[in-house]
Amino acid sequence: MNINGVPYRTIWRSSDGKAVEVIDQTRLPHEFVTVRLENVADVANAIRVMQVRGAPLIGVTAAYGVALAMQRCATDIELTQVCQLLLATRPTAVNLRWALVRMQEKLSGVAESDRNVQAWLEAESIADEDVVINQAIGQHGLALIRAVWSNKLEVVNILTHCNAGWLATVDQGTALAPVYAAHDAGIPVHVWVDETRPRNQGASLTAWELQQHGVPYTLIVDNVGGHLMQHGQVDMVIVGTDRTAANGDVCNKVGTYLKALAAFDNNVPFYVSLPTPTIDWQINDGVKDIPIELRDGDEVTYIHGRTREGELVAVSIAPEGSAVGNYAFDVTPARLVTGLITERGVCAATKHGLAGLYS
Ligand code: MRU
Repeated sequence: MNINGVPYRTIWRSSDGKAVEVIDQTRLPHEFVTVRLENVADVANAIRVMQVRGAPLIGVTAAYGVALAMQRCATDIELTQVCQLLLATRPTAVNLRWALVRMQEKLSGVAESDRNVQAWLEAESIADEDVVINQAIGQHGLALIRAVWSNKLEVVNILTHCNAGWLATVDQGTALAPVYAAHDAGIPVHVWVDETRPRNQGASLTAWELQQHGVPYTLIVDNVGGHLMQHGQVDMVIVGTDRTAANGDVCNKVGTYLKALAAFDNNVPFYVSLPTPTIDWQINDGVKDIPIELRDGDEVTYIHGRTREGELVAVSIAPEGSAVGNYAFDVTPARLVTGLITERGVCAATKHGLAGLYS
């Protein structure tokens, strides 16, 4: 993604080779600030406080965290402990576990003296692969958008929830990759951006990155989607996912399920974009078995923003002492999903559909 004409990924190795740098997503959209992560504690903290977030980027950041650890101490014990520490940072996005297993499998077969070099190479490969995967997702999703456009020959209206764009990955995004591909191909697209309470990733991140790329969008509060769908103003929904079960159930930012219900009721196609590392083949019933992150209640009782005078503030919106249920994700049952857009192609959200792409 270009920011003021400069091409950026969301994460990269520092020029001195000793650290990684990320865009601090807690500061967007008000400030574009990069942060240097020097060690595994910095990486764990960045994931926990959501300086980096989004399933694919969480996985890639953790992989770099392992590399940072290996440059200081490359023993078996260190490798195991570092992976355990990073795995505990966030529970829902399965890309985290996937990346750590891949790093561990790669490094456990390597002599301690070579682990530093190999760890950096592997982390770089995971990052590069993410970009290639997302480009392919973009092309498969583009075909779906193009099909809508050829029928309609007017602006294609796409609704999305949370941020599954460039900022949630290394580059391109998952749900937004098809949007960028369509926009770049000259297809007129417009995105309805759910603000995505409580942390407002839609308002602060999706709106920001669409604006950077020049894609027309309209920011809406989370409850508007149903109304828009009833009035024919949404041609398709495309969202990302933090973990997709082997039966096609899809876990994503809380509120996604309600969008899927509204889409189903109004015959609006509901697509989910995902890279292969987001599939959890060990879970056959996503609704029952995908762990849902419970986050701090302050995210619900306080709103963060910037005053007209430019001051960054957090404002309380509820009585002190309110009980809060801050469920960060929900699961959309596969029966509500029109299709899964993967780097291998588009398939039905069923065991059978996935088998068509993965066996
Ligand atoms: O809590 P977050 O911001 O990490 O949640 C992100 C999402 O829910 C995204 O939609 C999901 O990770 C898919 S990202 C390509």
